[in-house]
Amino acid sequence: INLDILRERVHFIQTKRRLPQVIIIGVRKGGTRALLEFLNVHPMIQKSSEEEHFFDNDARHSLGLEWYRRKMPFSFPGQITIEKSPAYFITDKVPERIHEMNSSIKLLLIVRDPVTRLISDYSQLAANKAKKGKPLPPFEELVFKSDGQVNMNYKAVKISMYSIYLKKWLKVFNDNQILVVSGDQLISDPFLELKQIEDFLGLKHYIKRENFYYNKTKGFFCVRNETLDKCLNDSKGRKHPVIPSVLISKLRRFYTPYNREFYRAVGRSFAWLE
Ligand code: A3P
Repeated sequence: INLDILRERVHFIQTKRRLPQVIIIGVRKGGTRALLEFLNVHPMIQKSSEEEHFFDNDARHSLGLEWYRRKMPFSFPGQITIEKSPAYFITDKVPERIHEMNSSIKLLLIVRDPVTRLISDYSQLAANKAKKGKPLPPFEELVFKSDGQVNMNYKAVKISMYSIYLKKWLKVFNDNQILVVSGDQLISDPFLELKQIEDFLGLKHYIKRENFYYNKTKGFFCVRNETLDKCLNDSKGRKHPVIPSVLISKLRRFYTPYNREFYRAVGRSFAWLE
């Protein structure tokens, strides 16, 4: 049996696969999976479960919009199709390519304290290496140069310099097309963030505080409604290595100017300590 053909045929009448009207563009380790799963509780949202990498991967992009559309879930008229690929935020060609598909698209960017994001990114890279039986060099060795300065060439350091990437998006899109979501608050009080997103997407308030419950063992919120009950898997909410406080302070100082520029550009400040 060709499953693709089957999936194409077995679906509610009136539904079809549609290109996304909303994309979560990043940032890597910002809480993109939690955001997608939480939004999916809303009956007007249909998510693509996979990271499609359609706009950042040249080979995939060359397959065309019809290929991309077929990757999307079935949706009823009026429902919103949403995809997330965190690599979009940091890849140069992506804003133009998305604009070419839909110039009035809505974009969600979820960010988190840049130092925490860096440590989270390192933890993921270390976990992936460990799976292959190879250790990743220590944090300090990758994130700092031999002269003690922050290593701006290290990709995980760079990704947390949000203002640099945001600029490129604001050259292509109006600022009212991009909603910046607090990944820190999505962890501590997901309901409040989701409420703002419903407004931004023009959706009725459907997601309630009661949809979230704190899972003590996991240390994070999970989500449920009448039909689903979802906690993220063990790759989300990893234990972070303890980094010496002098290094943390150094990193905080390093990111301060970029953070200030970012607050200005998005018109929202975050409690990212200096
Ligand atoms: P850590 O694993 O470092 O804690 P992404 O999905 O973009 O890769 O982001 C992963 C991060 O989402 C996790 O990083 C975690 O902190 C955060 N997160 C936010 N809400 C979460 C939730 N309800 N359950 C698990 N992780 C959550």
